[in-house]
Amino acid sequence: MKIFKVVMLSMIAIVLITSSVFAAGMMEGNVEKGKALFNDPKAFQGSISCSSCHPDGKGLEKSAMMGKTEWNNPAGKFKSLEEAINACITMANKGKAIDVKSEEMKDMVAYIKSLGMGMKHDMPMKKKGMGY
Ligand code: HEC
Repeated sequence: MKIFKVVMLSMIAIVLITSSVFAAGMMEGNVEKGKALFNDPKAFQGSISCSSCHPDGKGLEKSAMMGKTEWNNPAGKFKSLEEAINACITMANKGKAIDVKSEEMKDMVAYIKSLGMGMKHDMPMKKKGMGY
């Protein structure tokens, strides 16, 4: 009987641990940091901020939508959000492109995703959901 309890408890523990790790993986990037970069004219060694053309992220609400396959900005058409961000960084902000796998890029993507949520300060569990 005791063994049964121990097994049950450890199984519950394993489920809890793996699901929280999974949730953390889905929540890559920091919205607040992304927002700070977005509003910072000196981010990415550029000369103007993203928000000078996209005030409060206006117009980008749908940019991180699931199922989107093409992004447009004055530099051309792109196949990923990260490429579109880099194009605006280099062409619009006159800054340096960042690694698509960098923390900064994840933060930017997280911020742009948050724009589409309608509510910026909702619970983390909601953010990783389908949402759309
Ligand atoms: C000089 C003005 C300007 C600046 C600065 C700028 N952008 Fe843009 N960006 C645009 C314009 C114009 C578009 C095209 C919008 C459209 O076609 O609806 C665009 C498009 C985009 C798109 C693609 C939208 C889509 O869903 O297809 C993304 C993403 C984006 N910008 C992100 C950024 C980020 C991140 C920064 C800062 C690093 C930034 N932009 C800075 C002008 C700018």
